[in-house]
Amino acid sequence: MQNTMSNIENDHDYTSDSDKSDKHKVISDFNVISRRKNNQKRIIYQILVRSYYDSNGDGIGDLKGVISKLPYLKSLGVNVIWMTPINKSPWDDNGYDVSDHEAIEPAFGTISDLKELVNKAKKFDIDIMFDCVLNHVSTQNETFIKAINGDKKAQKHFIFRSGKKNNEPPSKLNSVFGGSAWEYVPKINKYYLHIFAKSQADVNWENPATRKKMISHVLFWQKLGIKMFRYNSIDHISKSDLTKNCDDYDCTIYTNGQKVHKYLQEIKDACANKEDVVFHFGEITSKNIDELIKNGRNDFDGVFIAPQFCSDKINRSKWTHDINYFIKLKRDLDEILTKLLNANILPVISFENHDESRANSRFGDDKEFRKECSTMLLATQIMLPGIPCIYQGQEIGMTNDDFDELDMFEDVANIDFVNKLSEKGASKKDILNILNRFARDKARTAMQWDSSKNAGFSKFDENQTRNVTGLLQPPKVNKNYREINVKNDLKSDFSIIRFMQELIKIRKNYKEITYGNYQMLLKEDTELFAFIRKYGEHEILTISNFSSDSVKVPLTVNNYKLLLSNYVDVKLRKNMALKPYQTLILYR
Ligand code: GLC
Ligand code: CA
Repeated sequence: MQNTMSNIENDHDYTSDSDKSDKHKVISDFNVISRRKNNQKRIIYQILVRSYYDSNGDGIGDLKGVISKLPYLKSLGVNVIWMTPINKSPWDDNGYDVSDHEAIEPAFGTISDLKELVNKAKKFDIDIMFDCVLNHVSTQNETFIKAINGDKKAQKHFIFRSGKKNNEPPSKLNSVFGGSAWEYVPKINKYYLHIFAKSQADVNWENPATRKKMISHVLFWQKLGIKMFRYNSIDHISKSDLTKNCDDYDCTIYTNGQKVHKYLQEIKDACANKEDVVFHFGEITSKNIDELIKNGRNDFDGVFIAPQFCSDKINRSKWTHDINYFIKLKRDLDEILTKLLNANILPVISFENHDESRANSRFGDDKEFRKECSTMLLATQIMLPGIPCIYQGQEIGMTNDDFDELDMFEDVANIDFVNKLSEKGASKKDILNILNRFARDKARTAMQWDSSKNAGFSKFDENQTRNVTGLLQPPKVNKNYREINVKNDLKSDFSIIRFMQELIKIRKNYKEITYGNYQMLLKEDTELFAFIRKYGEHEILTISNFSSDSVKVPLTVNNYKLLLSNYVDVKLRKNMALKPYQTLILYR
């Protein structure tokens, strides 16, 4: 029987015998298994609506733009589109500062555009994943404005505290973006908590009325036809003792509080009704996932994980660069994958997203070996267990663009860092160097469709006046768009898109990849990333060279059959070497 090796097929073993005697439990376990099988077939494509495709020439990407690209998305082979928040927002944090949870940002379109997108996507067998920001709201949210103007009932929806006697904040707590996590409101003589930017006030999940309100927002979108949710920063909704002091950025005080599980159950119970099957995904940023693992299997259909993005930083500190990151990257990823899979939780694996700079520029080469490196990274990512999540532009090997002025960066997360470095006397060049490597702005430039103006993303003209004011402005366009774009890629003999289509076909056609076990090999190797996916009698071995040198493979490969490589004319041999950024996908 094939099923002895696969995690999924072992699923029914996790219930204890006493549980098994319970008929209802057995039925719900069956649901868990079939949901999981369903989820393992997913391939997510992440879209930043603002910079994807602008249908009306106002410079801002929009929902109609996404609709017009559905045939393209279908051709890639993906089956879920996750859009970063499309709610109404003053756009201080890329839309993660939601001012109205039940409205769409007007620049993106209307509710009826969203319905159209959901319905048309369904015809292409594509589901829409809605990004829900439940931990915080924009300080321009109506209820928050009431709160800071003295409305006591409104204040209960947020986390307000009195300061200490000497005009100090309630505790020493740093926000993720730097500076204190407490902001003073003179009018009411109180501080409010913001784990992220000052413009993002944390909501008080301890208050049942707040929970009801936040959950009603999820139900609002569910009623409109959304069946998949990604809960942003969900490991922050339950906090522990906020009076404690904490210097560390990776602070445990506001992550993974004990009630995350309870609150999630409330969300899920509210969403559950007879007609709908709703899927719940969570973004987990904290390193300590043990709390999550305790309940995770029942909490999430999948979790977006991030250790791969921390490994090239020193002590996870955002603006540091550890050049000897490779073994750490493998170790961190292996550790979290093993833990999650053992707990039967599906990891969602991204090598790029809206919070990180481009992977080829960061982990390899974006010049001489750009195509080799981009395809190698895609192969590694898509062959790993869990659910792959491809970020817009990854399929054509988009790269970091070097900005040469500080004011070209707009992300709120940069401000504190730039201020601190400037105070210390760092040169503009040094600051630019590190921003150009790590700033989130790097991945937020316009999608490069062709070599026409604005990379074919928009017909917008810089001299044109926009009737939308505020922070939501047209995205920057990478200088290299005339060379790197969808149209050119498809014309080329070495097309990254076509390579990715092949990878997705392997993922769909081989149970070893969809459902199989996972084991990392060569953990201490400083250049090769290798792992096996096994299902029953058969296995797929992926070996990727993360270096620009030719590297000898210390594994026997000539007893496998080659499924795919990003180089042509590959002969499998004993003691063979991999060329720069070469990847091999092997079957036996
Ligand atoms: C999540 C988002 C990130 C955002 C943060 C605060 O981590 O991915 O972009 O800045 O939440 O909302
Ligand atoms: Ca537009």
